[in-house]
Amino acid sequence: MKATKLAQGVYWVGAIDWNLRDYHGYTLPGTTYNAYLVVGEEKTALIDTCYPGFEEQVLGRVASIIDPKTIDVIVANHIEVDHSGGLPKIAKMLPSVPIYCTEVAVQGLARHYDTKDWNLQVVKTGETLDLGQKTLVFLEAPMLHWPDSMFTYLAEEEILFPNDAFGQHVASSKRFDDELGKDIALAHAKKFFANLIIPLAPKVLKKLGEVGDLGIGIKMIAPSHGIIWRTHAADIVTAYVEWSKGVSKDKVTIVYDTMHGATDMMAKALADGAMDGGLEVKVCLLKDGRYEGCHRSDIVAEMLNSKALLVGSPTLGDEMLPTVAGFLSYLRGLRPGRLTQKKIGFAFGSHGGHGGAVDQITDDLKTAGIEVVEGGMEVYFKPDTDEREACYRAGLALADQVTQM
Ligand SMILES: [Fe+2]
Ligand SMILES: [Fe+2]
Repeated sequence: MKATKLAQGVYWVGAIDWNLRDYHGYTLPGTTYNAYLVVGEEKTALIDTCYPGFEEQVLGRVASIIDPKTIDVIVANHIEVDHSGGLPKIAKMLPSVPIYCTEVAVQGLARHYDTKDWNLQVVKTGETLDLGQKTLVFLEAPMLHWPDSMFTYLAEEEILFPNDAFGQHVASSKRFDDELGKDIALAHAKKFFANLIIPLAPKVLKKLGEVGDLGIGIKMIAPSHGIIWRTHAADIVTAYVEWSKGVSKDKVTIVYDTMHGATDMMAKALADGAMDGGLEVKVCLLKDGRYEGCHRSDIVAEMLNSKALLVGSPTLGDEMLPTVAGFLSYLRGLRPGRLTQKKIGFAFGSHGGHGGAVDQITDDLKTAGIEVVEGGMEVYFKPDTDEREACYRAGLALADQVTQM
């Protein structure tokens, strides 16, 4: 196994997890756990580790550069197990090696591992570590995305190691953005942002402002998952600003499930109206994510740059369908209302009794911070011609509203 060189004395020594398909409910085509080796004239630092079980890949790649036993310093930017999981083995191999991390990380690591013999060293924003012609600068980043998170910056090479921020879940033999392709890399980064970063959008904008105020150059961004941004670092920063602001297209995402096809008829009439009104339309039939591109983690990526989200369900018993309830639970947790630009919501569905799903969807969308068109559209059993026409007109009216946003 070989390391990949980022710059003189700086290497990717991470692990590729080709087979990961589900990460706490996020569907993904594998991922990487990126660790980095910074070789200074006096000391060598290992930045982050990997998920448990991937230590051999990390140490094997380190061994292509130096003897792993000569690592002088470890930096733990984040305690989540996909980045700290290699620490127990590596700390055992290097019993006295200092592990630099935030104060919260010290507490968090102790909750995850037996750290009593670890040499944990607390660092704060602005503190530096001189490796000899290579200087690491630490920048606490609480709640980006955990309370313990921090960024590490290599001053001489102008490389930012922001851990999860700017990451993407993708397994590839390519290490760099220009190798994988900018558009593919940005698409994976967008899904990552939609599923993990939306609730933190205001903090992202604040932190990017702080980094901007430092006046430091950033030539390369080396996150803890996916490719390294060496050619398009400015593009991913711009994308993070736009996604955090909720900058969206004239686009609507329609999400629904159906029992006997009535809610499906409504979804399609709404889609026709929105399309004829000039919108880009994405239609997602939930069905427990069995339909390609319709897993909840794909849908929220579609929603991220949509100005409107339409959600439909028939009423089963007194409730919306569990598939729709599950999607809305996920959506509520993401808090899309924290994006600067608000989204419009619309609820629809059929019922065979007293209904209820449309009101429940409306309430959930409001809780998520979405501005819902009051009333929605609820029909008895199956939409007749007039009701299908009403759905079409509702789609047209939404298009009108969306194009004026
Ligand atoms: Fe994380
Ligand atoms: Fe991660």
